[in-house]
Amino acid sequence: MRKPVIAGNWKMYKTVGDSVAAAVALKPLVANANHCEVIIAPVFTALKSVADRLEGSNIKVSAQNCATEKSEGALTGEIAAFMIHDTGCSHVIVGHSERRQYYFETDQIVSKKAQAAREAGLIAIVCVGETLDQRDAGKALDVVKEQLIGSLSGLTASDLDRIIVAYEPVWAIGTGRTATPEQAQEMHAFIRRVFAERHSPGAADALRILYGGSVKPDNIAGLMKQLDIDGALVGGASLKADSFAEIVNYNR
Ligand code: PGA
Repeated sequence: MRKPVIAGNWKMYKTVGDSVAAAVALKPLVANANHCEVIIAPVFTALKSVADRLEGSNIKVSAQNCATEKSEGALTGEIAAFMIHDTGCSHVIVGHSERRQYYFETDQIVSKKAQAAREAGLIAIVCVGETLDQRDAGKALDVVKEQLIGSLSGLTASDLDRIIVAYEPVWAIGTGRTATPEQAQEMHAFIRRVFAERHSPGAADALRILYGGSVKPDNIAGLMKQLDIDGALVGGASLKADSFAEIVNYNR
């Protein structure tokens, strides 16, 4: 059985104070959520304060990015995975489409980040997803397959249990336009097949694949009913504790 994961990506929102306040507000609202893992991803500057305040709770903390290099060095502005781990984080998002689009991250870069995360003891949430043009051109499956293989290259079979994949169609992020549960299920099943072919049916069966893109309290239940959807990566609707808690508690 794959334990579902509901992760909130706070993107570049909230000061340290606002982040801690939102995390503290969320804590009691999801305290009984044993059916899934709950993760929030604040900005770098708030990671330590949020992780400290959530210690002993059922909410895990994730960063939204990490450096490709594993050890410290002269790399102005970068933050290594082991430094993220040091703040009390357990996860890191890599290859989010906003980073691929605005910061020109390639699959090769994402793969290095995923490897750095693994070596630091973090679980990498590796994002893939096609643009609207690619979908309209009938290339969605090919694009996602290429991203998946490229972004996970360099990881061995034994690393795969430290990876979560997030399928986030770019056309559904922040647009209010969600993929239908059927569209998402089709891609998730495809991702699992690609994984089974490249690695093993066992690894594919254990892989958790999250859907992301305009997930809201009113569409989460329909998505979670799909066989291959193992959770969600939530942007906008994760910023407020009550709406994120509603998503976490989709099973009520
Ligand atoms: P959204 O963002 O829920 O606001 O569409 C999802 C994401 O980018 O992870």
